[in-house]
Amino acid sequence: MKHVTLGTGLDVSRLGLGCMGMSAFYTGAGQDDAGATAVIHRAIDLGVTFFDTAEIYGPYTNEVLLGQAVKGRRDQVVIATKFGTLLHRSDDSRGLDGSAENVRLAVEGSLKRLDTDYIDLYYQHRMDPGTPIEETVGALKQLIDEGKIRHYGLSEAAPATIRRAHAVHPVTAVQTEYSLWSRDPESEILPLLRELGIGFVPYSPLGRGFLTGTIRSLDQLDEADFRRNNPRFEGENLQANIRIVEEVDAVASEVGATPGQVALAWLLAQGDNIAPIPGTTKVANLEQNVAADALVLSPEQLAALAAVAAPAGDRYADMSPLNR
Ligand code: ATR
Repeated sequence: MKHVTLGTGLDVSRLGLGCMGMSAFYTGAGQDDAGATAVIHRAIDLGVTFFDTAEIYGPYTNEVLLGQAVKGRRDQVVIATKFGTLLHRSDDSRGLDGSAENVRLAVEGSLKRLDTDYIDLYYQHRMDPGTPIEETVGALKQLIDEGKIRHYGLSEAAPATIRRAHAVHPVTAVQTEYSLWSRDPESEILPLLRELGIGFVPYSPLGRGFLTGTIRSLDQLDEADFRRNNPRFEGENLQANIRIVEEVDAVASEVGATPGQVALAWLLAQGDNIAPIPGTTKVANLEQNVAADALVLSPEQLAALAAVAAPAGDRYADMSPLNR
Protein backbone atom coordinates (compact mmCIF):
# COMPACT_ATOMS: atom_id res chain seq x y z
CA MET A 1 0.00 0.00 0.00
CA LYS A 2 1.37 3.40 -0.98
CA HIS A 3 1.53 6.11 1.66
CA VAL A 4 0.95 9.86 1.58
CA THR A 5 2.00 12.61 3.95
CA LEU A 6 -0.83 14.82 5.13
CA GLY A 7 -0.17 18.47 5.89
CA THR A 8 2.15 18.92 8.85
CA GLY A 9 3.85 15.55 8.32
CA LEU A 10 1.30 12.85 9.16
CA ASP A 11 2.19 9.68 7.27
CA VAL A 12 -0.82 7.48 6.39
CA SER A 13 -1.62 4.64 4.00
CA ARG A 14 -3.32 6.39 1.10
CA LEU A 15 -6.42 4.25 1.56
CA GLY A 16 -7.72 4.34 5.12
CA LEU A 17 -10.67 2.62 6.76
CA GLY A 18 -13.81 4.48 7.75
CA CYS A 19 -15.24 2.76 10.82
CA MET A 20 -18.54 4.66 11.15
CA GLY A 21 -20.80 2.06 9.56
CA MET A 22 -19.61 -0.57 12.03
CA SER A 23 -21.47 1.23 14.83
CA ALA A 24 -23.81 3.84 13.39
CA PHE A 25 -26.06 5.11 10.61
CA TYR A 26 -25.87 2.19 8.16
CA THR A 27 -27.65 -1.16 7.90
CA GLY A 28 -26.31 -3.70 10.39
CA ALA A 29 -24.51 -1.11 12.53
CA GLY A 30 -23.61 -2.29 16.01
CA GLN A 31 -24.75 -5.84 15.35
CA ASP A 32 -21.45 -7.59 14.78
CA ASP A 33 -18.52 -6.20 16.73
CA ALA A 34 -16.51 -9.39 16.23
CA GLY A 35 -16.92 -9.10 12.46
CA ALA A 36 -16.00 -5.41 12.57
CA THR A 37 -12.90 -6.21 14.62
CA ALA A 38 -11.91 -8.81 12.04
CA VAL A 39 -12.17 -6.13 9.33
CA ILE A 40 -9.88 -3.79 11.30
CA HIS A 41 -7.36 -6.59 11.88
CA ARG A 42 -7.39 -7.58 8.21
CA ALA A 43 -6.93 -3.93 7.24
CA ILE A 44 -3.80 -3.68 9.38
CA ASP A 45 -2.48 -6.91 7.86
CA LEU A 46 -3.05 -5.48 4.37
CA GLY A 47 -1.06 -2.36 5.18
CA VAL A 48 -3.85 0.07 6.07
CA THR A 49 -2.59 2.39 8.80
CA PHE A 50 -5.29 5.09 8.82
CA PHE A 51 -8.45 4.49 10.88
CA ASP A 52 -11.28 6.97 11.12
CA THR A 53 -13.87 7.24 13.89
CA ALA A 54 -15.76 9.95 15.83
CA GLU A 55 -17.29 10.33 19.27
CA ILE A 56 -20.73 10.68 17.67
CA TYR A 57 -20.56 7.28 15.94
CA GLY A 58 -22.72 5.15 18.22
CA PRO A 59 -22.39 7.58 20.01
CA TYR A 60 -19.17 6.50 21.66
CA THR A 61 -19.28 2.78 20.84
CA ASN A 62 -17.28 3.09 17.62
CA GLU A 63 -14.31 4.60 19.47
CA VAL A 64 -14.42 1.76 21.99
CA LEU A 65 -14.54 -0.79 19.19
CA LEU A 66 -11.57 0.73 17.36
CA GLY A 67 -9.55 1.16 20.56
CA GLN A 68 -10.05 -2.51 21.44
CA ALA A 69 -9.29 -3.69 17.93
CA VAL A 70 -5.91 -1.95 17.69
CA LYS A 71 -4.79 -2.93 21.17
CA GLY A 72 -1.24 -4.24 21.02
CA ARG A 73 -0.75 -2.60 17.60
CA ARG A 74 -1.30 1.01 18.59
CA ASP A 75 2.07 2.12 17.25
CA GLN A 76 1.27 0.70 13.81
CA VAL A 77 -1.84 2.80 13.29
CA VAL A 78 -2.95 6.39 12.93
CA ILE A 79 -6.20 7.06 14.78
CA ALA A 80 -8.37 9.93 13.63
CA THR A 81 -11.41 10.88 15.68
CA LYS A 82 -13.74 13.89 15.86
CA PHE A 83 -15.43 16.23 18.33
CA GLY A 84 -17.83 19.15 18.14
CA THR A 85 -21.29 17.67 17.61
CA LEU A 86 -21.97 16.42 21.16
CA LEU A 87 -22.32 18.86 24.04
CA HIS A 88 -20.90 16.98 27.07
CA ARG A 89 -22.57 19.16 29.67
CA SER A 90 -25.41 17.85 31.81
CA ASP A 91 -26.18 15.22 29.20
CA ASP A 92 -24.85 14.19 25.82
CA SER A 93 -27.34 15.95 23.63
CA ARG A 94 -26.31 16.88 20.12
CA GLY A 95 -25.37 20.35 19.01
CA LEU A 96 -22.51 22.25 17.45
CA ASP A 97 -19.99 23.30 20.07
CA GLY A 98 -16.42 24.26 19.26
CA SER A 99 -15.80 26.07 22.54
CA ALA A 100 -12.49 25.50 24.31
CA GLU A 101 -14.42 23.98 27.22
CA ASN A 102 -16.15 21.43 24.98
CA VAL A 103 -12.91 20.53 23.19
CA ARG A 104 -11.37 19.67 26.54
CA LEU A 105 -14.37 17.67 27.75
CA ALA A 106 -14.52 15.79 24.46
CA VAL A 107 -10.86 14.83 24.20
CA GLU A 108 -10.74 13.26 27.65
CA GLY A 109 -13.70 11.03 26.76
CA SER A 110 -12.21 10.01 23.41
CA LEU A 111 -8.83 9.17 24.95
CA LYS A 112 -10.54 6.99 27.55
CA ARG A 113 -12.76 5.17 25.07
CA LEU A 114 -9.92 4.63 22.61
CA ASP A 115 -7.81 3.52 25.58
CA THR A 116 -4.82 5.48 24.32
CA ASP A 117 -2.54 8.28 25.52
CA TYR A 118 -2.79 10.27 22.31
CA ILE A 119 -4.96 10.85 19.26
CA ASP A 120 -3.02 11.15 16.01
CA LEU A 121 -5.51 13.37 14.20
CA TYR A 122 -8.32 15.21 15.98
CA TYR A 123 -10.96 16.81 13.76
CA GLN A 124 -13.64 19.34 14.49
CA HIS A 125 -16.54 17.38 12.98
CA ARG A 126 -18.74 20.35 12.03
CA MET A 127 -17.97 24.04 12.44
CA ASP A 128 -19.72 25.94 15.24
CA PRO A 129 -21.00 29.33 14.02
CA GLY A 130 -21.27 30.40 17.69
CA THR A 131 -17.56 30.04 18.49
CA PRO A 132 -14.74 31.84 16.67
CA ILE A 133 -12.53 29.22 15.00
CA GLU A 134 -9.55 30.92 16.67
CA GLU A 135 -10.86 29.80 20.08
CA THR A 136 -11.31 26.21 18.92
CA VAL A 137 -7.87 26.02 17.32
CA GLY A 138 -6.31 27.68 20.37
CA ALA A 139 -7.70 24.84 22.48
CA LEU A 140 -6.46 22.25 19.97
CA LYS A 141 -2.99 23.80 19.98
CA GLN A 142 -2.92 23.40 23.74
CA LEU A 143 -3.80 19.72 23.39
CA ILE A 144 -0.94 19.34 20.90
CA ASP A 145 1.44 21.02 23.37
CA GLU A 146 0.25 18.62 26.08
CA GLY A 147 0.77 15.60 23.81
CA LYS A 148 -2.90 14.55 23.94
CA ILE A 149 -3.30 15.00 20.20
CA ARG A 150 -0.60 15.06 17.53
CA HIS A 151 -2.37 16.87 14.69
CA TYR A 152 -5.72 18.50 14.09
CA GLY A 153 -8.15 18.75 11.19
CA LEU A 154 -11.47 20.25 10.15
CA SER A 155 -14.44 18.50 8.56
CA GLU A 156 -16.81 20.26 6.14
CA ALA A 157 -15.28 23.68 6.81
CA ALA A 158 -15.59 26.70 4.50
CA PRO A 159 -12.47 28.08 2.78
CA ALA A 160 -12.43 31.23 4.95
CA THR A 161 -12.59 29.12 8.11
CA ILE A 162 -9.73 26.93 6.92
CA ARG A 163 -7.60 30.01 6.31
CA ARG A 164 -8.35 31.46 9.74
CA ALA A 165 -7.63 28.16 11.48
CA HIS A 166 -4.39 27.67 9.56
CA ALA A 167 -3.21 31.13 10.63
CA VAL A 168 -3.50 30.12 14.31
CA HIS A 169 -1.87 26.69 13.89
CA PRO A 170 -1.23 24.66 10.71
CA VAL A 171 -4.13 22.38 9.75
CA THR A 172 -2.99 18.84 8.94
CA ALA A 173 -6.08 17.62 7.07
CA VAL A 174 -9.50 18.66 5.90
CA GLN A 175 -12.10 15.90 5.69
CA THR A 176 -15.06 16.46 3.39
CA GLU A 177 -17.32 14.28 1.30
CA TYR A 178 -15.69 13.77 -2.09
CA SER A 179 -16.36 11.18 -4.75
CA LEU A 180 -17.48 10.83 -8.35
CA TRP A 181 -20.94 12.00 -7.34
CA SER A 182 -19.84 14.68 -4.81
CA ARG A 183 -17.47 16.98 -6.60
CA ASP A 184 -18.08 20.14 -4.54
CA PRO A 185 -14.52 20.38 -3.08
CA GLU A 186 -13.00 20.82 -6.54
CA SER A 187 -13.96 24.46 -7.02
CA GLU A 188 -12.42 26.04 -3.93
CA ILE A 189 -11.36 23.57 -1.25
CA LEU A 190 -8.84 21.49 -3.21
CA PRO A 191 -6.98 24.50 -4.68
CA LEU A 192 -6.87 26.09 -1.21
CA LEU A 193 -5.49 22.94 0.42
CA ARG A 194 -2.81 22.70 -2.27
CA GLU A 195 -1.91 26.35 -1.68
CA LEU A 196 -1.64 25.91 2.10
CA GLY A 197 -0.08 22.42 2.04
CA ILE A 198 -2.98 20.78 3.88
CA GLY A 199 -3.91 17.13 3.33
CA PHE A 200 -7.35 16.06 2.10
CA VAL A 201 -9.36 13.11 3.39
CA PRO A 202 -12.42 12.31 1.25
CA TYR A 203 -15.19 10.64 3.23
CA SER A 204 -17.94 8.57 1.60
CA PRO A 205 -15.56 7.97 -1.34
CA LEU A 206 -17.88 5.19 -2.52
CA GLY A 207 -20.88 7.50 -2.44
CA ARG A 208 -22.12 5.79 0.75
CA GLY A 209 -21.93 2.51 -1.11
CA PHE A 210 -23.96 3.67 -4.11
CA LEU A 211 -20.98 3.85 -6.49
CA THR A 212 -20.21 0.17 -5.93
CA GLY A 213 -23.37 -0.59 -7.90
CA THR A 214 -24.78 -2.82 -5.18
CA ILE A 215 -27.56 -0.52 -3.95
CA ARG A 216 -30.46 -0.42 -6.39
CA SER A 217 -33.39 -0.01 -4.02
CA LEU A 218 -34.12 1.30 -0.54
CA ASP A 219 -35.61 -2.11 0.27
CA GLN A 220 -32.04 -3.31 0.72
CA LEU A 221 -31.58 -0.94 3.68
CA ASP A 222 -32.80 -1.25 7.29
CA GLU A 223 -35.55 1.08 8.46
CA ALA A 224 -33.03 3.08 10.52
CA ASP A 225 -30.43 3.38 7.76
CA PHE A 226 -29.42 7.03 7.33
CA ARG A 227 -29.53 6.69 3.54
CA ARG A 228 -33.32 6.22 3.59
CA ASN A 229 -33.57 9.94 4.37
CA ASN A 230 -30.72 11.05 2.14
CA PRO A 231 -32.02 12.94 -0.91
CA ARG A 232 -29.80 11.07 -3.36
CA PHE A 233 -31.26 7.73 -2.36
CA GLU A 234 -34.88 8.79 -2.50
CA GLY A 235 -37.37 7.69 -5.18
CA GLU A 236 -36.76 9.30 -8.53
CA ASN A 237 -33.36 10.58 -7.49
CA LEU A 238 -32.10 7.07 -6.82
CA GLN A 239 -33.37 5.90 -10.19
CA ALA A 240 -31.75 8.87 -11.96
CA ASN A 241 -28.47 8.32 -10.14
CA ILE A 242 -28.17 4.74 -11.35
CA ARG A 243 -27.01 6.35 -14.60
CA ILE A 244 -23.85 7.43 -12.80
CA VAL A 245 -23.09 3.89 -11.67
CA GLU A 246 -23.59 2.65 -15.21
CA GLU A 247 -21.02 5.13 -16.49
CA VAL A 248 -18.54 4.08 -13.79
CA ASP A 249 -19.28 0.45 -14.57
CA ALA A 250 -18.40 0.99 -18.23
CA VAL A 251 -14.85 1.98 -17.22
CA ALA A 252 -14.73 -0.84 -14.67
CA SER A 253 -15.47 -3.39 -17.40
CA GLU A 254 -12.67 -1.95 -19.54
CA VAL A 255 -10.07 -2.38 -16.79
CA GLY A 256 -11.39 -5.60 -15.28
CA ALA A 257 -12.20 -4.00 -11.92
CA THR A 258 -15.33 -3.31 -9.90
CA PRO A 259 -17.10 0.09 -10.05
CA GLY A 260 -16.10 0.73 -6.42
CA GLN A 261 -12.44 0.13 -7.22
CA VAL A 262 -12.67 2.51 -10.18
CA ALA A 263 -14.31 5.16 -7.97
CA LEU A 264 -11.42 4.87 -5.50
CA ALA A 265 -8.70 4.82 -8.18
CA TRP A 266 -10.19 7.99 -9.69
CA LEU A 267 -10.02 9.71 -6.31
CA LEU A 268 -6.43 8.62 -5.73
CA ALA A 269 -5.51 10.15 -9.07
CA GLN A 270 -6.77 13.60 -8.00
CA GLY A 271 -3.63 14.57 -6.04
CA ASP A 272 -0.67 13.52 -3.89
CA ASN A 273 -2.14 14.76 -0.65
CA ILE A 274 -5.35 12.70 -0.79
CA ALA A 275 -6.23 9.77 1.49
CA PRO A 276 -9.82 8.49 1.06
CA ILE A 277 -11.37 6.42 3.85
CA PRO A 278 -13.84 3.92 2.36
CA GLY A 279 -16.00 2.29 5.02
CA THR A 280 -16.96 -1.35 5.19
CA THR A 281 -18.09 -3.99 7.65
CA LYS A 282 -16.99 -6.93 5.50
CA VAL A 283 -13.54 -8.43 4.98
CA ALA A 284 -14.24 -9.28 1.32
CA ASN A 285 -15.25 -5.68 0.56
CA LEU A 286 -12.22 -4.34 2.42
CA GLU A 287 -9.93 -6.55 0.35
CA GLN A 288 -11.56 -5.33 -2.84
CA ASN A 289 -11.22 -1.69 -1.77
CA VAL A 290 -7.57 -2.05 -0.74
CA ALA A 291 -6.78 -3.57 -4.14
CA ALA A 292 -7.78 -0.24 -5.73
CA ASP A 293 -4.38 1.05 -4.56
CA ALA A 294 -2.81 -0.82 -7.47
CA LEU A 295 -5.37 0.21 -10.09
CA VAL A 296 -4.06 2.79 -12.56
CA LEU A 297 -6.52 4.44 -14.92
CA SER A 298 -5.55 5.96 -18.27
CA PRO A 299 -5.97 9.70 -18.92
CA GLU A 300 -8.93 8.86 -21.16
CA GLN A 301 -10.58 6.77 -18.45
CA LEU A 302 -10.01 9.50 -15.85
CA ALA A 303 -11.53 12.04 -18.22
CA ALA A 304 -14.55 9.82 -18.88
CA LEU A 305 -15.10 9.45 -15.15
CA ALA A 306 -14.73 13.17 -14.52
CA ALA A 307 -17.55 13.68 -17.01
CA VAL A 308 -20.14 11.36 -15.42
CA ALA A 309 -23.64 12.78 -15.03
CA ALA A 310 -24.30 15.18 -12.17
CA PRO A 311 -26.23 13.59 -9.30
CA ALA A 312 -29.88 14.18 -8.52
CA GLY A 313 -30.44 15.30 -4.93
CA ASP A 314 -28.39 17.10 -2.28
CA ARG A 315 -25.69 15.37 -0.24
CA TYR A 316 -27.77 15.83 2.94
CA ALA A 317 -31.41 16.60 3.67
CA ASP A 318 -30.13 19.55 5.73
CA MET A 319 -27.14 21.20 4.09
CA SER A 320 -26.99 24.06 6.59
CA PRO A 321 -24.22 22.71 8.89
CA LEU A 322 -21.83 22.30 5.95
CA ASN A 323 -19.29 24.72 4.54
CA ARG A 324 -19.41 27.02 7.61
P1 ATR B 1 -18.91 6.16 4.35
O1 ATR B 1 -17.67 6.97 4.27
O2 ATR B 1 -20.09 6.98 4.66
O3 ATR B 1 -18.75 4.92 5.16
P2 ATR B 1 -18.47 4.94 1.73
O4 ATR B 1 -17.11 4.59 2.16
O5 ATR B 1 -18.65 5.78 0.52
O6 ATR B 1 -19.25 5.70 2.88
O7 ATR B 1 -19.37 3.65 1.57
C1 ATR B 1 -19.63 2.78 2.62
C2 ATR B 1 -20.69 1.81 2.18
O8 ATR B 1 -20.21 1.10 1.06
C3 ATR B 1 -21.06 0.78 3.21
O9 ATR B 1 -22.47 0.67 3.21
C4 ATR B 1 -20.41 -0.49 2.74
O10 ATR B 1 -21.20 -1.62 3.02
P3 ATR B 1 -20.56 -2.96 3.69
O11 ATR B 1 -20.33 -2.61 5.12
O12 ATR B 1 -21.63 -3.96 3.49
O13 ATR B 1 -19.30 -3.26 2.94
C5 ATR B 1 -20.33 -0.29 1.24
N1 ATR B 1 -19.13 -0.91 0.65
C6 ATR B 1 -17.85 -0.68 0.99
N2 ATR B 1 -17.01 -1.37 0.19
C7 ATR B 1 -17.78 -2.07 -0.66
C8 ATR B 1 -17.51 -2.97 -1.72
N3 ATR B 1 -16.26 -3.26 -2.06
N4 ATR B 1 -18.57 -3.52 -2.38
C9 ATR B 1 -19.84 -3.21 -2.05
N5 ATR B 1 -20.17 -2.35 -1.05
C10 ATR B 1 -19.16 -1.79 -0.37
